[in-house]
Amino acid sequence: MADIDKQKWDKVYSHPQRTFPNPPAALVAYADYLIPGRLLDVACGEGAVALYAAATGLYATTAIDISQIGLDKLSRFAEQQQLPVNTQTVDLDDLQQLSELGKFHSITLFRFKPSRELLEALMLCLVPGGRLLLSTFNMQHHQSTGFSQRFCLQQREFMDIAGSGKLIHFISSNCAPFTDTYIFENQQ
Ligand SMILES: C[S@@+](CC[C@H](N)C(=O)[O-])C[C@H]1O[C@@H](n2cnc3c(N)ncnc32)[C@H](O)[C@@H]1O
Repeated sequence: MADIDKQKWDKVYSHPQRTFPNPPAALVAYADYLIPGRLLDVACGEGAVALYAAATGLYATTAIDISQIGLDKLSRFAEQQQLPVNTQTVDLDDLQQLSELGKFHSITLFRFKPSRELLEALMLCLVPGGRLLLSTFNMQHHQSTGFSQRFCLQQREFMDIAGSGKLIHFISSNCAPFTDTYIFENQQ
């Protein structure tokens, strides 16, 4: 599966006319929940989230993705704007790779539906008191656009994750783009 995803996204990011990405609306709306310090942007693509985070000056930003072409684009955008962002190729199907990244004050995961296993592994990458912001499409998005339901969050899917991660905020947007946003805190 990871190989197919990589090929698909490499092709998307290879398009010569990709422009500097805008941050997702939910990031702008809920960024105040993030804890300044080390930030990990997961499945970062060409950097819509990581570049915005780096530009605030509040976060030492690391961005990970399976697509080297996406990461190269991100690095070029970062260079153009003189923003410091570290990038690393990581396959999220291999959870061992995550444990080698160290600990973070904040983790962001946008427009990517994690497995429960991945979400719980990411919680282990947070320092005590650290926060994880997950925001991606929900089933209303599938119903209104036909976007594959495989990539959409079920209603209140992650209200009860295991371990030290406690849900501190949940928002389900009822206008397009239909997304669910979860903010977890490591209350270890
Ligand atoms: C819809 S894009 C979202 C990019 C970015 N988070 C955003 O909101 O603009 C999904 C991203 O997930 C990445 N991805 C898919 N499968 C992956 C895997 N197994 N490991 C790491 N990244 C993966 C893709 O390369 C792609 O960049």
